[in-house]
Amino acid sequence: MLQDGFGRTIEYLRLSVTDRCDLRCTYCMPEKFKDYSEPEHWLSFDEIERLLSVFARLGLRRIRLTGGEPLLRKNLPELASRLSRLPGIDDLSLSTNGTQLERYAGVLRRAGVTRLNVSLDSLDRERVQSISKRDVMPQVLAGLEAARNEGFRLIKINMVAMSATTDDEIDAMTAYCIERGFVLRLIETMPVGEGGRNTGFLDLRPVQERLRRRFGLVDGVVPGGGPARYLVSGDGRFQIGFITPITQHFCATCNRVRLGVDGILYLCLGQNHTVDFRTLLRSGGSNADIEEAVLAALRTKPHSHDFTSRPQRVVRVMSATGG
Ligand code: GTP
Ligand code: 5AD
Ligand code: SF4
Repeated sequence: MLQDGFGRTIEYLRLSVTDRCDLRCTYCMPEKFKDYSEPEHWLSFDEIERLLSVFARLGLRRIRLTGGEPLLRKNLPELASRLSRLPGIDDLSLSTNGTQLERYAGVLRRAGVTRLNVSLDSLDRERVQSISKRDVMPQVLAGLEAARNEGFRLIKINMVAMSATTDDEIDAMTAYCIERGFVLRLIETMPVGEGGRNTGFLDLRPVQERLRRRFGLVDGVVPGGGPARYLVSGDGRFQIGFITPITQHFCATCNRVRLGVDGILYLCLGQNHTVDFRTLLRSGGSNADIEEAVLAALRTKPHSHDFTSRPQRVVRVMSATGG
């Protein structure tokens, strides 16, 4: 039912529950960033639940909680638990930087979050500090350990590959993920916001070929709804995904939209098309009005990004939409 103007079925919504973050990753957010949304504009849990229940009635199946850093939103597990019970939603996941995961892993799992994606760009503590501007690697590793102990079966590590990322760093991360049973995903840096534009991306095609040969990997499938393409080892012990928006884009199979904490719907990560749902929610719009607005919004979803031809197009910071 939820189709865009190009016939793509939209079944996945990325919900940014806050645009604040405790880190300042260079490719995502300027170090002195201050341009946050106003707290009075943040959708309440009731508003989020109402809006997403309309999406779910129209065919939405998957919700991913993102930020900024989603675990900074007060009472997030309560929201997770409400969204996990929405009829029609069968996949509730979270993308986090992991700094608070040690404390929240158990309660998130009990709230119905089934899949976790955790950002970790290197296993070199100083490199992590220089990328994120905080010395957080030990905390993130402890968070990952806690998540494993709580029984999360599918934990993905998001490693943003920058021009400065070395083969040694990728190999160290590969060994760590094999040992712990984590799915590794390498991501080409996107030119979203100034930070993204000023961080050189790494072409992942040669990396993919190198790892394919080294581990004898073959094409495979890993649960999830995002744009990663996976390679897996014959014994299934190693699964690695490649997210290549720059060198091999995946817009033709796009299945998602993004909702900002302030109720703005972003139709594409790489374009500026938006629709304001906060005003509609707060001005007495009926569920039928919301439904109509959702269908109209989807008809304006752009065909694709222009990261290569117009890298300057998206000036908003990545943290506004949580990736
Ligand atoms: P699953 O596949 O469901 O596990 O999640 P995901 O990979 O879609 O989500 P995650 O938050 O872990 O995002 C990983 C990377 O993919 C981030 O860098 C996102 O910005 C990027 N990404 C997710 N969706 C899109 C998209 O529609 N377009 C582009 N260009 N990048 C995306
Ligand atoms: N390019 C690619 N990925 C990014 N992320 C944040 N900013 C960028 C960017 N400019 C990633 C984070 C996180 C995911 C949700 O998005 O590292 O893992
Ligand atoms: Fe979809 Fe836009 Fe991402 Fe392309 S860049 S996959 S169209 S959200």
